[in-house]
Amino acid sequence: MDEKNRTVNLSYNEGQNTIDLPVLEGTLGPDVVDIRNLAKTGMFTFDPGYLATASCESKITFIDGDLGLLYYRGYPIEELAEDADYLETCYLLIYGELPTREQKDEFVRIVTHHTMIHEQLAAFFKGFRRDSHPMAMMVGVTGAMSAFYQDSMDYSSKANDRMVAAYRLISKLPTIAAMCYRYTNGLPFMYPRNDLSYSANFMHMMFSTPCETYEPNPVLVKALDRILILHADHEQNASTSTVRLAGSSGANPFACVAAGIACLWGPAHGGANEAVLKMLDEIGDVAHVPAFMDGVKNKTHKLMGFGHRVYKNMDPRASIMRRTCYEVLGELGLQDDPKFKLAMALEKIALEDPYFIERKLYPNVDFYSGIVLSALGIPVSMFTAIFAMARTVGWISHWNEMISDPNQKIGRPRQLYTGAQRRDYVPIDVRK
Ligand code: SDX
Repeated sequence: MDEKNRTVNLSYNEGQNTIDLPVLEGTLGPDVVDIRNLAKTGMFTFDPGYLATASCESKITFIDGDLGLLYYRGYPIEELAEDADYLETCYLLIYGELPTREQKDEFVRIVTHHTMIHEQLAAFFKGFRRDSHPMAMMVGVTGAMSAFYQDSMDYSSKANDRMVAAYRLISKLPTIAAMCYRYTNGLPFMYPRNDLSYSANFMHMMFSTPCETYEPNPVLVKALDRILILHADHEQNASTSTVRLAGSSGANPFACVAAGIACLWGPAHGGANEAVLKMLDEIGDVAHVPAFMDGVKNKTHKLMGFGHRVYKNMDPRASIMRRTCYEVLGELGLQDDPKFKLAMALEKIALEDPYFIERKLYPNVDFYSGIVLSALGIPVSMFTAIFAMARTVGWISHWNEMISDPNQKIGRPRQLYTGAQRRDYVPIDVRK
């Protein structure tokens, strides 16, 4: 962060007082006004939904919403999605640099050998109804991990404990996610296979059976791996901010990631991919699109998978996801998949409609991801669980960045109070 002694001057009390607030400049992106001294004026800033608030300094991910740019540690998402794999991307997000061959091999070895979960943790599933939503189980079982790893809980002072927790979460979330799917379908849990890559192993734990040999399709594995890369991190989104806020109190990383999963579940956030498929099912046919769009414009419903707080241009992940759609559907001979055709028709109509153009509403990462995940054989109810599995590395990277900062403080926003003035208690027998 570069402080060139630039300031903004704020005058208040009808100009009787002024305060100079420092302007801080990052490597990329907008400058920020440092308002930490504003409380001296007796006033707070007011920014519900954090439309214009930078909550922290970070070196992990950069987004330019106007240009549609997304960089992980400076590397464009398009290049990582094309040339890297998910575990290499995990290493980059956590450590800040692309791994050497030796570093990557060691990282893969450690992650691979942490994929099993404690047998008693598996017992938690028996407490869930069979029709439980996978995200309900993900929240519960991930949070329960904090009951199993008491050995390394000194996270504030021991970087090693933080890395152990990071490995455990990155390694075990796919196992837990696959177990959610298996449990709701009455299938036996499949143990991880160390001979498979991270994404191939997830496909194995999801779809193989004890009765026959299962070898995942490499084209589908590559597509899933790319989907995980696209979802790995995204700056200070709602669920990452949730993890940071939970972590700022000193809560353990398993509880923090469980809080992130809970936040991601919302349809305005990670739950949108599931909502997109339900929306496409509801529309049914391109002939129904005009009526559906009327409903969007009179605010009856939203066009799920469209719009973004930051991107006022195409979400770069959506373009990559659309291309992945073509590849996967082509591999499976489903290029005429009606849902994909309907989604592309919907996108074309929306991008030409003044309502969406005026509001800078473009497809986001969730618009096409559900179609790809469906083609991979993953049920709609599991979409957000896959998103959570992928985003775990982003959450834990931000948690680690925050905990490593010796100056970090507990997050404690203030408010604009508009409630009752002070008043005295009234005994119940004389109340009207
Ligand atoms: C993710 O933050 C992240 O980085 C998140 C994420 C990540 O990787 O972590 O990128 C993942 O969450 C992607 C977003 C997935 N959500 C959806 O697809 C749900 C549909 N989208 C909307 O709910 C909405 O666009 C949000 C929540 C994503 C963003 O909302 P904002 O920034 O608060 O914008 P807004 O609600 O103030 O909308 C501005 C205008 C409004 O119209 P007017 O009041 O000006 O007339 O745009 C309209 C909104 O009604 N609008 C939409 C719309 N999204 C916004 N209208 C129709 N359909 C939509 N999808």
